[in-house]
Amino acid sequence: MTPTRPPGPVSPIWADAAADAALAGQTRPADISIVVPCYNERANVRPMVAALSHALAGREWEVIFVDDSSPDGTIDEVRALAELDGRVRGLLRVGRRGLSSAVIEGVLSSSARIVAVMDGDMQHDESCLGRLIDAVARDGYDIAVGSRHVEGGDNAGLANGWRTLLSDSGIRLVQMVLPVRLGDPMSGFFAMRRDLFERTVPRLSGTGFKILLDVFLSAPQRPRVLEVPFVFRPRAAGESKLDILVLLQFVAMLADKLCRGFLPTRFIAFSLVGLVGILVNLAVLEVARRFGAGFATGQWLGTLVAMVTNFWMNNALTYRDMRLRGARMWLGLALFMIICSAGAAADVGIARAIFSRDGQWGMAGAAGAAIAVVWNYAVSSTLIWRQR
Ligand code: GDD
Ligand code: MN
Repeated sequence: MTPTRPPGPVSPIWADAAADAALAGQTRPADISIVVPCYNERANVRPMVAALSHALAGREWEVIFVDDSSPDGTIDEVRALAELDGRVRGLLRVGRRGLSSAVIEGVLSSSARIVAVMDGDMQHDESCLGRLIDAVARDGYDIAVGSRHVEGGDNAGLANGWRTLLSDSGIRLVQMVLPVRLGDPMSGFFAMRRDLFERTVPRLSGTGFKILLDVFLSAPQRPRVLEVPFVFRPRAAGESKLDILVLLQFVAMLADKLCRGFLPTRFIAFSLVGLVGILVNLAVLEVARRFGAGFATGQWLGTLVAMVTNFWMNNALTYRDMRLRGARMWLGLALFMIICSAGAAADVGIARAIFSRDGQWGMAGAAGAAIAVVWNYAVSSTLIWRQR
């Protein structure tokens, strides 16, 4: 029988014991949350839920679709299913993008003991989920990884040979810095203890696509890991969101981890963009020279083009999650050019001063450039791309 609350002020005893009794057993809580990041996956939502229902029959589970306001209305499909099935939940994010950060927020919204992360495009084989979950729930592993690179696993679903090469070399690179032996650290298919994930969150970089790798590089303790083979399927509907910018974010994330979080990821990305800008500047200078322009004209042109491309790269990559568009973007570009001009003036001034003191070219140049990049970054982050 459901207890009724006595009249008068709520006593602490009533609030704890009776409220718990009133709530207990109303519905069965989920033991496991499946967190599914999705962007433009409308056509895959229904098949996903059907596949999960089948694969997880007999378990208490829920699925949390984390959608970054997909233009195709993915969230509407999720909401429609949620009206029919209490195990379906949607987390809608506004004004932000990113696979890893979507997964983090999905996991943080869960109260289940175990969380599993899975792509929303049916490329991950749901029939493998049960084994991943059991490894954590029953066999004492902290993390169980769906792996394409252990005996029995396969990477057949990668779109082409180029992606396969990229994936294989990425894995080799990553294995050099990884604290545990892992055949497929780039996998996005895994189950783990939610409390461990939660303790890892403050140290996560949270950028890009590789949330599992991020977890391994950030976990407070060395996790006990099991790899379970699965076959990566080709995409049935929709298209991959992995592009060159995601790859660059990956490099920035690794650099961040190698610096032990000493430098912020954004600063590293900003500096990498700066390096590319120098190459752009030199390339334009060279082209101008071949067309017979003088050095001053070439350098002006080079600087101008480099500023515009740097702005574009920072807007699309470094600050991808708060990308400026339309009028805001043009205003941002104008500000960026003013800020960078001041940075360049400081660069030259400081380099000159150091050079006149101890006559070392390299030292003077590096100090000037370092000051300029810190200045450009600090001011751009506060004036142009700021959290709103
Ligand atoms: N919320 C949200 N926001 N979801 C996203 C975003 C985003 O910005 N970008 C991608 N997703 C979702 C996709 O909708 C899909 O459900 C899942 O994340 C994977 O994205 P895909 O674009 O399909 O990635 P992929 O197939 O190239 O890469 C996958 O394979 C890798 C192994 O090669 C991912 O699973 C990686 O995690 C995995 O490591
Ligand atoms: Mn995919």
